[in-house]
Amino acid sequence: MTDHQLLLCAVEARKNSYAPYSGFHVGAALLGKSGKVYTGCNVENAAYSPTNCAERTAVFKAVSEGEREFTAIAVVGGKGDEISSLCAPCGVCRQVLSEFCDGNLRVVLGTPDALTVTTLGALLPYSFGKSDVK
Ligand code: THU
Repeated sequence: MTDHQLLLCAVEARKNSYAPYSGFHVGAALLGKSGKVYTGCNVENAAYSPTNCAERTAVFKAVSEGEREFTAIAVVGGKGDEISSLCAPCGVCRQVLSEFCDGNLRVVLGTPDALTVTTLGALLPYSFGKSDVK
């Protein structure tokens, strides 16, 4: 699975985005160590705060299906039909990813024509995690 293919999975997942309030549609594709891809989209709610981001949808789907180790995630987002040049995971999603992934997780952002690769470690330095609590 290439970064480009994973980003295309996120583009496909974005088509299911339920975002009637913000009009901002996000898709994510999380690559498990098994090779399986778990997709997700944002699911908004009239009460706003119950909204779930695309990345967390993908993580929760994967974990609920028994996979807990991941090598990469791709994220695409934008208003209406447009995919923004870069839609980075929000802080809450970075924290949720850090529960299951170390700083080496590849984070693929951008568009299928111009993708950018970074890491979870770069997006969430000095993170708070399991080792702090135990
Ligand atoms: N959103 C995501 O799905 N992922 C992010 O990392 C940032 C924000 C969604 C939440 C909401 O439905 C919409 O984008 C606008 O914030």
